[in-house]
Amino acid sequence: MMYPAIAIDGPAASGKSTVARLIAQKLQYTFINTGAMYRAVTWYLLQRGINPQDTAAVVAALPGIPLSFGKDGSVSTVVCEGRTLTDELKGQEVNGLVSTVAAIPEVRALLVRKQREYNESEPVVMEGRDIGTVVFPDTPFKYFVTASEEVRAARRAAEGITDSIAERDKKDTQRAASPLAQAPDARLVDTSDMSIDEVVACIADDIRAKLTQ
Ligand code: CDP
Ligand code: CDP
Repeated sequence: MMYPAIAIDGPAASGKSTVARLIAQKLQYTFINTGAMYRAVTWYLLQRGINPQDTAAVVAALPGIPLSFGKDGSVSTVVCEGRTLTDELKGQEVNGLVSTVAAIPEVRALLVRKQREYNESEPVVMEGRDIGTVVFPDTPFKYFVTASEEVRAARRAAEGITDSIAERDKKDTQRAASPLAQAPDARLVDTSDMSIDEVVACIADDIRAKLTQ
């Protein structure tokens, strides 16, 4: 690892992406939303008529998935055949199937490799489910961002998105391959009663303190 990555993990709608994006801006690091990569694989399979629940078919399709990355300011974007994927990744069908695809070890191996490669060329704030536990287990900068289930459901509903977050969290926590978990050395940030600015300040202060140690 050439740069110490900032690892931010947590369940759905805990505020990970919002907070990670702002911290990346502050530090002038690149923000990487790894959920978008799992969503892009799921979206691609659906586009090609491949059943995301057919593990053998998914594994066979993996080497041919033309995923690459772009940049929008300090934000890394996912590109598929020249097309930057944005709203496509947030649809109901992708929401309902992404955790099934993300439970396949071969899918994880491919995406984790891409995630680590990213950090070889530039410093990153990376957000997901297994960043502190699996992708960058040696980084000293690990944060587990959470909020009560009620608060998270309300946050997602306020965005006008249909998303069964409880079901996704259950699948993500219970899967065998790299389940959603707080790394033992990650700092827990319960954002149930915190504003976005308060969460950013809390994590930025911790990073600053560690950098000056
Ligand atoms: O934004 P939200 O928290 O709702 O989801 P996301 O970060 O876009 O992640 C979508 C799904 O991808 C998760 O529910 C996980 O199944 C999977 N994922 C994962 O397994 N590992 C990661 N590092 C990131 C996402
Ligand atoms: O990435 P993740 O799914 O964990 O959450 P997000 O997409 O960053 O945040 C979900 C929603 O909660 C967004 O609309 C944020 O503006 C909001 N949010 C909030 O109200 N208070 C926080 N402390 C963090 C996020």
